[in-house]
Amino acid sequence: MSKKPDFDALVNNKRIDNVDTSALNILFSLFDKPEVISFAAGLPTQELFPREELVKIAPKVFIEDGAKSLQYGAAEGYAPLREKILARTKNLYGVEKSLDEILLASGSQQAMDLFCKTVIEEGDVIFVETPTYMGALNAFQQYFPKFVSLEMDDEGISIEDLKAKMEMYPNAKCLYTIPTFQNPTGKRMSLARRKELLEAVKDTDLLILEDNPYGELRYSGEELPTLLALDDCDRVVYMGTFSKIFVPGTRIGWVLGPKELLAKMKKFESAGELQGNTITQHLANAYMEEFDLEAHIVEIKDCYRKRRDAMLEALEKYMPEGCTWTHPDGGLFLWVTMPENANTNDAFDYCVAEGAAYCPGEGFFANDVKYNYLRMNFSPHTEEVIDKGVKMIGDGLKKYLATL
Ligand SMILES: Cc1ncc(COP(=O)(O)O)c(C=O)c1O
Repeated sequence: MSKKPDFDALVNNKRIDNVDTSALNILFSLFDKPEVISFAAGLPTQELFPREELVKIAPKVFIEDGAKSLQYGAAEGYAPLREKILARTKNLYGVEKSLDEILLASGSQQAMDLFCKTVIEEGDVIFVETPTYMGALNAFQQYFPKFVSLEMDDEGISIEDLKAKMEMYPNAKCLYTIPTFQNPTGKRMSLARRKELLEAVKDTDLLILEDNPYGELRYSGEELPTLLALDDCDRVVYMGTFSKIFVPGTRIGWVLGPKELLAKMKKFESAGELQGNTITQHLANAYMEEFDLEAHIVEIKDCYRKRRDAMLEALEKYMPEGCTWTHPDGGLFLWVTMPENANTNDAFDYCVAEGAAYCPGEGFFANDVKYNYLRMNFSPHTEEVIDKGVKMIGDGLKKYLATL
């Protein structure tokens, strides 16, 4: 018999060790418990996926348009779709970009990977928010950066802290931010703070990576300009996605940025996967031609606004004393602060025993992990289920707190 390769030795490399997805394990444990009402993941509601519309356009995409949707395509993505995304960017944010300033990626998650492959070398400093999106930390970790965490208040990143950290790390490469309806907190950077941020970095080479998957899901409050729109020197590299406003399974995201940078990112796109998915790019393009994406987004917002309100109301009714939470104007998430001595990893099982789950906060910290936070996603459940599930969470947390 031939020798079986020793996989333990073969896959024992420092890249694997550097990517820490352990905070996800607690969430994977929910896969075996479909009866649990989960507020843990960041899932869009599936009843609003435009399934019938996609079926209607399938003959056009697969038959009338010929075999183009099934063939290999350009690494930068299907040009008609890129044009439509650029037209929306102009309408929404007043930003005009050309076709060589947009690159499609397999979701904004892959866009982060391409960005890091292109920009980040071992030991480079990336400034991140506290807390920040755990998936971004995982994407960045593959390239061995040094994360430097920036303090945040209700208006976003603390500029004072940023200035202090810029003095300590004058060669920092980039600042990763989700300024609008952040994951995990739901917070939105104020207009004044956006301007102060760009002002604070104006004499540096620091790149700002603006991640904006939730910006179009605004339920209250005024529209604010993106950092991309406020940028006057090609400093902001912007990532958008269809995941939360259309269908996450299409795996279509995009990067808008300076063409010099995008040309290099495209090189890695070619090297890594040749190109993104032609079929879904053609489907999204045909959907935008035949149907009204903007009307669809209004429908999603109407649904999520009610769910956000239901969750805020339920939290008020059922959460134990000593807990506070954010009141987001948009996005999918609320961020709950428990008393300082609480640990939301330990409280998790108490809530699951009651029948509901949340996402513990641990994985959202790049440095100085805090354990007394948790994230709740209100998008996937009806108002009735939200009320029922939040009561279970409240009961579980009360039982856990009684043990301290
Ligand atoms: C802040 C943030 N960025 C990026 C992503 C990845 O999204 P995509 O589906 O476009 O890869 C997510 C997904 O939840 C997210 O919350």
